[in-house]
Amino acid sequence: MIKTEGLMKRFQSVVAVDRLDLDIPAGEIFGFLGPNGAGKTTTVKLMTGLLRPSAGRSWVGGFDVQTHPKEAKKIMGLVPDQPYVYPHLTGIEFLRFIGDLYEVDLSYQKKKIPELLEMFELNDMGSELVETFSHGMRQKLVLAGVLLHQPKVLFLDEPMVGLDPKSARLVKDVFQRLSQSGVTLFMCTHVLEIAERLCHRVGIVQQGRLTRVGTVADLRAQASRSGTLEDVFLALTGGDQYRDLLRFL
Ligand SMILES: Nc1ncnc2c1ncn2[C@@H]1O[C@H](COP(=O)(O)OP(=O)(O)O)[C@@H](O)[C@H]1O
Ligand SMILES: [Mg+2]
Repeated sequence: MIKTEGLMKRFQSVVAVDRLDLDIPAGEIFGFLGPNGAGKTTTVKLMTGLLRPSAGRSWVGGFDVQTHPKEAKKIMGLVPDQPYVYPHLTGIEFLRFIGDLYEVDLSYQKKKIPELLEMFELNDMGSELVETFSHGMRQKLVLAGVLLHQPKVLFLDEPMVGLDPKSARLVKDVFQRLSQSGVTLFMCTHVLEIAERLCHRVGIVQQGRLTRVGTVADLRAQASRSGTLEDVFLALTGGDQYRDLLRFL
């Protein structure tokens, strides 16, 4: 459902994404892990057609994102790292806007929008302007919008940031249900516990290069580490040198 071949993005001298090859089947939750600045957000922007690659190609549901952007975008959903929502719309207006944009049947929208607001505990916010929403509320509103248009492929850039524990739990369960119903999820995350609990496979990206792909168990074996995924992740990304940095304290 998601495929890239030699996908690359250069910003002046920085190679943010370096010849990325990925193939992600339907229903998989793929976790994309890596330190800050590794190129995760840029990868999502390339895969969703928000940025033009310097080289390489990517497909969503078999549609080339460059040559068939409309077809590809029609079946994808995106939860960006910043929950960008129009501040002067109300919660309901925002969802109606998303619903109309994706040509969701009006009677379905009218039934579904109140359900989604209830599910994300945004009932009271439906008629409030989005500018009054907290970061977590905006995040949930964006997720509600995504569920409204029922994408086959969902890109999530740090979707848990700003969510309280109950909302985070709800969202994890939602992701699992979506995957069980055949939706493919590509998720950038720093929350290693989520990667461990939720992702069928994870890829580790460092300085734009995909350095490892596999199940968490595979990565553990490669790092020859037991212990937490955090230990494994730090070992694989050289992040375990962080202790040196404590000398500045
Ligand atoms: N619009 C841009 N212009 C120049 N450099 C950029 C731009 N966007 C990202 N970068 C650079 O590309 C690299 C990867 O960034 P990003 O994809 O945001 O990383 P991540 O999401 O993994 O933290 C970083 O070095 C960042 O500074
Ligand atoms: Mg990012």
